[in-house]
Parts: sequence; structure tokens; C-alpha cells
Amino acid sequence: MKILGIVGSMRKNGNTYKVVQSALEGVREADPEASCEIVNISDFRIEPCRGCYDQCSSQPYHCVLEDDFAALCEKMLRGDGLILGSPKYFPVPATLTAFMERLVCLAYSSDVDGMGEHIFKDKPCLLVGVTGGDEPIQLLQHLFHFALSMRMKPLQLTDYPFYGVGGKGRVTEDEDLKPLEQARKMGRELVEVLREKNGNLPHC
Ligand SMILES: Cc1cc2nc3c(=O)[nH]c(=O)nc-3n(C[C@H](O)[C@H](O)[C@H](O)COP(=O)(O)O)c2cc1C
Repeated sequence: MKILGIVGSMRKNGNTYKVVQSALEGVREADPEASCEIVNISDFRIEPCRGCYDQCSSQPYHCVLEDDFAALCEKMLRGDGLILGSPKYFPVPATLTAFMERLVCLAYSSDVDGMGEHIFKDKPCLLVGVTGGDEPIQLLQHLFHFALSMRMKPLQLTDYPFYGVGGKGRVTEDEDLKPLEQARKMGRELVEVLREKNGNLPHC
């Protein structure tokens, strides 16, 4: 089982990283053989989408801009499950926004041109949203909307903030939302969802 954690913050080892890392610990608890990778969006050079729709459809699943978009997209594709974390900016960091925009070329290829199913269809994902103090629900709704538009299956929490794991302020000190604890729990749940999706096949 391969799980990719994407840290959408421009800060390495910050709050987002800690929560995504904790979710991956939960994954490893539930499946010690899981292959987990964590990447920082700040290590990728990703330009904003230029909206050249014709180019998307002439070369399906391919963006004409040459930067690190394809490399990150490939990693996402190879993962059985995804953990996507972001801090609240306006609403998310510019590089993450650019990545989300660029992924639209995939939807454009599959939906608009009838190329078949979206390549991320039904990929289970766990969303993480951290803020400096605001309630994280709007940020998580933004990420949730993105995940749905990519035809992914975002996991939901039974309690607030519902759309994913939320944290406020320093995540190590957040006794209200307990993001590290929640993330670990949801990481374990992500493994269960993947096992169910794969028909409970024994690990070999
Ligand atoms: C450009 C920018 C905009 C931000 N906007 C908000 C905001 O509107 N509301 C909020 O609660 N925190 C805001 N923050 C704070 C971050 O969301 C918060 O510090 C978060 O924990 C940072 O996560 P990181 O350590 O993973 O980078 C902003 C931070 C930056 C740099």
C-alpha cells in the first residue's frame, strides 16, 4: 500500500508537516508494510495555469507548461491513498493553488473530451487544514471541494471540523481540536478504507 503525503505549506517542518506526518504514523500503525512518502510543495516549481484549454484536450492528461507539475502529479497517481495538508493563507499557499489549478487539465481531458474516467477517480484521501487561529472549517471545505472535483474520495470525520483534520495555532499545543491525535486516528482509518476498496485482500 502506497500513501503519499503532500505538505502544501511553504514552511518545512511547520504545523502542516507535523499533522501530515502524524497521519502517516497512523498509516504505519495500521499497516507496518505501507510505503509512505511525504513531499513539500515548496520543493516543486509549479507555475499557475494559463487556461489554454485547447492545449489540454490536444494532448490529454498533459500540460504544456514545463516545470515540476508532472513529477508531483505522477507521485499522486502512484499513491493508493493521499494525505493533503495545507495551512490557511488566502485561502491556501500560492504554489498549492497553482498545483490545484494545473490539475484541472486532467479533469478537462476526462470530462470534457469523454476520454473516460478521471485518473484520480475514487482515490481515498485525507485532508488536513491548519490555521493561525481561525476556525479551519472553511479551509477544509475548500480542500474538500477540490478533492471532489478531482473525483477523489475524501474521508470525513464524525465530529467537527467534519471535512478533514483541523488544527489551530501550534498543533502540538492545540488541546481543542487535538490535530496530531486526530490525524493518527484518521491515518489508520485511511488504511481501513483502502483495504475495503481492495476487497480485503491479504497483504502479500
Ligand atoms: C500569507 C499568510 C496568510 C495567512 N492567513 C491566515 C488567515 O487568514 N487566518 C489564520 O487563522 N491564519 C492565517 N495564517 C497563519 C497560518 O495559517 C498558520 O500560521 C499555520 O499554522 C501555518 O502552517 P505551517 O506551519 O504549516 O506553515 C496565514 C499565514 C500566512 C503566511
